[in-house]
Amino acid sequence: MATIISKYYKINEKKVEIRNAIISDAYQMVELVRKLASETKFMMREPDEVNTEIEDQEKRIETLLKSDKGLLLVSVVDDQIVGFLVISTRDLRRVKHSGNLVIGVEKKYWGTGIAKYLMEEMLNWSKSIGLRRLELDVVEENTRGIELYKKYGFKVEGKKIEDHYVGNGQYLNTIMMGNIIN
Ligand SMILES: CC(C)(COP(=O)(O)OP(=O)(O)OC[C@H]1O[C@@H](n2cnc3c(N)ncnc32)[C@H](O)[C@@H]1OP(=O)(O)O)[C@@H](O)C(=O)NCCC(=O)NCCS
Repeated sequence: MATIISKYYKINEKKVEIRNAIISDAYQMVELVRKLASETKFMMREPDEVNTEIEDQEKRIETLLKSDKGLLLVSVVDDQIVGFLVISTRDLRRVKHSGNLVIGVEKKYWGTGIAKYLMEEMLNWSKSIGLRRLELDVVEENTRGIELYKKYGFKVEGKKIEDHYVGNGQYLNTIMMGNIIN
């Protein structure tokens, strides 16, 4: 099952819960992705490109909850979702051992350890279900993200040149990272 046991940690005198997303989180999830799109240029979408309908997000959460090899974790502070981590897999025999990772934390919580808690839960889960490989794309300028991934065993596997457009004629490179889970 794509589920973990909920965990609680303390950050800045507040309690943060790391748990699976549930269907009623759909609205807050979409809002968080929209917020992140305006807080950072390192995500794929610009704010007006985040047009996921709540019903679609509900279906996505439902599918992930039922799936054996997909995961959607959220971090919750004061009943508000402030971070998420998703692992997507494909149901094809040649690639189903491999999961694609996306993570995001609301800017005001950067540096509080929330991303580390999400990564730790995700790695334990990945091992428990026998995933062999994790992979992700990260913009070369995203030092915070790259350092986080290296800390959890990801290595640079390649680079896409001028893959990520951030406006004003500026194209950034994207780094491809992978992690073989032992
Ligand atoms: C990348 C992101 C998830 C990291 O979240 P965070 O809250 O800063 O992470 P944490 O506080 O848990 O820090 C985890 C690790 O990240 C790295 N890190 C955090 N801040 C850093 C900084 N200023 N410089 C370098 N590394 C940093 C460190 O390795 C840190 O571990 P440490 O505290 O033991 O040294 C967050 O910045 C984010 O959501 N960014 C926007 C979305 C994004 O870029 N997502 C990734 C797309 S691929």
